Amino acid sequence: MSTTTLEPKLEKTSMNGSSTTHEIKTIAVIGAGTMGNGICHVFAQHGYKVHLMDVSQESLNKGLAVIGKNMDRQIQKQLSTEEDKAAALARITPFTNMQHALLNTDLVVEAATENIELKLRIFQEMDQHAPAHCILATNTSSISITRIASHTKRMGKVIGMHFMNPVPVMKLVEVINGYATDASTTNAVIELSKVLGKVPCVVNDYPGFISNRILMPMINEAILSLQEGVAGVEEIDTIMKLGMAHPMGPLQLADFIGLDTCYSIMNVLHMGFGNQKYAPATLLANMVQAGFLGVKSGEGFYKYTPGSKELIVSERFANKKWQQ
Ligand SMILES: NC(=O)c1ccc[n+]([C@@H]2O[C@H](COP(=O)([O-])OP(=O)(O)OC[C@H]3O[C@@H](n4cnc5c(N)ncnc54)[C@H](O)[C@@H]3O)[C@@H](O)[C@H]2O)c1
Repeated sequence: MSTTTLEPKLEKTSMNGSSTTHEIKTIAVIGAGTMGNGICHVFAQHGYKVHLMDVSQESLNKGLAVIGKNMDRQIQKQLSTEEDKAAALARITPFTNMQHALLNTDLVVEAATENIELKLRIFQEMDQHAPAHCILATNTSSISITRIASHTKRMGKVIGMHFMNPVPVMKLVEVINGYATDASTTNAVIELSKVLGKVPCVVNDYPGFISNRILMPMINEAILSLQEGVAGVEEIDTIMKLGMAHPMGPLQLADFIGLDTCYSIMNVLHMGFGNQKYAPATLLANMVQAGFLGVKSGEGFYKYTPGSKELIVSERFANKKWQQ
């Protein structure tokens, strides 16, 4: 939460003053995890009614607690006020039932777990219960929008709306057109992104879109370099931070994203392009299979202690133990 600037105006007017997004008043967010709670946060903060849906009350409670905590940080940084926070939280209604959550919605943003079978099932259900005019968007990092859309009866209204983590801070929304996405759907999502103070970039539906097609091979290459003993964790991350002005090294970023997510995206690229250059590093596969997933599991390339911000290289890679 270091660089955010909240848009001062929370009313639903687009930056050029047009009223194209006025039709979007109520938005359902499916999944209250890392991304879902961030997406819910920014919509509620910008005046939209949000129906936040997850499979259990416990996940919803966790998501709502994170939203409250992140809003407190914005208040501490004088980017928001207690009144804004109370008003935004009052716009959020939690649901555990999809049908109820989709009632009277104009847009749904799906941010459930990255699993193709799960997303296809969720989209079938969303298609069944959402009003006919409702746009169905997915926050997927890598799954084909066209494939997801083909499981609905409204392919023209299905689109990728790919927010970045942490959502309240990061400015980009990668807008992904499926093969059959209507221009009106794309325009509505572009305008909505601008209302949120984000910068939308429209891309086509190819494996990894643009963001992960470029980012993930870089992370994978960093892991291959570590695996081959070219350099250690600290050296690789320092070179990329200080040499390329990246705010975070690729191995730390991999830990932050989750190594399981990185692995699954590399597999999508590998299969989608059929090119060996996208094959996931064996070290990445091994770490995922052994449950070393990064921040979320407490250890990846670094070791994480709750409450501590100190970056400590995992014992497995310290003292050149990574060298074979
Ligand atoms: N984490 C990131 O950095 C990042 C960045 C961009 C996009 N994404 C994408 O966002 C999506 C969500 O990722 P995340 O990191 O928030 O995952 P997460 O594991 O933090 O959260 C997923 C949530 O989905 C819920 N869920 C599972 N099945 C559901 C169902 N049937 N109905 C409703 N909710 C359900 C889970 O209970 C969980 O709360 C994925 O598609 C991911 O690829 C993630």
